[in-house]
Amino acid sequence: GIPTMNTTSPTIQHGIEIIESPALLQQRMLQARAKGQRIAFVPTMGYLHEGHVSLLRAGRARGDLLVLSIFVNPMQFGASEDLSRYPRDLDGDLAKAATAGTDLAFCPQPEAMYPVGFQTRVEVTEVQKGLCGDYRPGHFAGVATVVLKLINLVQPHVLLLGEKDYQQLQVIRRMVRDLALPVEVLGCPLIRDHDGVALSSRNAYLSPSEREQARSLSQALFAARAAFAAGERRRDALLDVARSVLAAQPALRLEYLELRDASDLTPPPATLNDPVVLLIAGYIGRTRLIDNLL
Ligand code: PAF
Repeated sequence: GIPTMNTTSPTIQHGIEIIESPALLQQRMLQARAKGQRIAFVPTMGYLHEGHVSLLRAGRARGDLLVLSIFVNPMQFGASEDLSRYPRDLDGDLAKAATAGTDLAFCPQPEAMYPVGFQTRVEVTEVQKGLCGDYRPGHFAGVATVVLKLINLVQPHVLLLGEKDYQQLQVIRRMVRDLALPVEVLGCPLIRDHDGVALSSRNAYLSPSEREQARSLSQALFAARAAFAAGERRRDALLDVARSVLAAQPALRLEYLELRDASDLTPPPATLNDPVVLLIAGYIGRTRLIDNLL
């Protein structure tokens, strides 16, 4: 059945305590802290896949209380983006979360997170520039703002985020450092499907033929990594290797393909010597996909 949402008192679904009210959650988490419980927190927008489940498992190993949030955050979607059709499956999400030992799920309504009069915005001004930031104006402010609010509600000891959204992870790491938030940020590896495609809730939008076309993103990254492994250290030569793979898949409308320093996302020198990440974003049909590889 479809879980019904509480407004005042917690309910249990799939063995998980579900809280919808931000005030109730904050109170519940204060009690957990007072009991000395270590809190691990995985923020998500739902439609969970194995990538999310791997974050929950990592959190399970690091906390006494494992908290998941499911909230499709309107503030991080642009006007022409996919907010209204973003996939949702709360019951399926809770079933998956239960397999990873989730204790509590926070599932607020947008009006509870952004009540009338809400007007605060957190901007991580430099890290949000370039890459996805150039194509999704306002996106990272929306992410930083909601993650800060979620951290204040959950008060976790450890926050687990996937490396798939590599720039998002760096934005949040920077915010946590800059604002001295008392939380450890743990980045967890991106998970791929058998065909190499990075797991994403948005893969649900792809038709079978688009799914085939979507392989070009990871194939381009793998080709560059093979060249790197074979000794190539020239930045532009590595990008050319990746671009030649993309040229064979005209269905991909590329937004960017860029090499960046793996720790601070600054552009690397012409000859690489520090760890770098190759990041890609583009559209297959109406679906925007991203991927990256260290
Ligand atoms: O990565 C996501 O799913 C979202 O950007 C996050 C971190 C849950 C904030 O809404």
